[in-house]
Amino acid sequence: MNYHVMTLFPEMVNETLSHSITGRALDNGIITLNAVDIRDYAQNRYKHVDDYIYGGGSGMLIQAEPVWLCYQDLIKKTGSKRPRVLYMSPQGRTFNQSMAQALSHNEDIIFLCGHYEGIDERAIELINPVHVSLGDYVLTGGELAAIVMMDAITRLIPGALGSDDSATYESFYDGLLEYPQYTRPPVYEGLEVPEVLLSGNHKLIEEWRKEKSIERTKDRRPDMYEKYMKKGI
Ligand code: ADE
Repeated sequence: MNYHVMTLFPEMVNETLSHSITGRALDNGIITLNAVDIRDYAQNRYKHVDDYIYGGGSGMLIQAEPVWLCYQDLIKKTGSKRPRVLYMSPQGRTFNQSMAQALSHNEDIIFLCGHYEGIDERAIELINPVHVSLGDYVLTGGELAAIVMMDAITRLIPGALGSDDSATYESFYDGLLEYPQYTRPPVYEGLEVPEVLLSGNHKLIEEWRKEKSIERTKDRRPDMYEKYMKKGI
């Protein structure tokens, strides 16, 4: 998987993804990361990329030209025929686990990150990306959204997690939240690890986990529980 990020803050992206699972995936070559500075495509000697908004309004907008030039150069360098291009925007479709799953099969993904008040609409029109939101709130820029998405996608790529099972049994995998988990000691502050988990009986453990997953989902995410029940599992 090759990630490309068009941003005004490439260090933010490089630094954050250099840790933990994504950091290891970068080291192992499971993913590559190419954070491109939109400012490098400014056509003025002050490297300004933003300007006031026509019609008034507070804040500044990133101009169309540096974004469009950056995108064209990236497409040329990537050589990818059909890269997925995603624009991080609160107006997009809300990101979720099944989108992460679908995106994990791409060879190249380009994330376009706006900042300040966003990007001149003409650049968006020319690039024609898919708009994706992290949730119903406004972030200062698209970088954090792109970082979150890359993290969620990367852990679904075979080899990125220590064990291939790890992504199979976590929350959302089959429409349920994950069951509670425990490690040593067996008693802490008077709270005991459920006995079945110490029994060594894998069948019973599996049944207990499924039951807890269902219980939790019903309690914490009734919306998910309803969908799960409708599926008739
Ligand atoms: N940029 C600003 N807010 C955002 C959000 N909620 N999701 C994705 N990108 C954003």
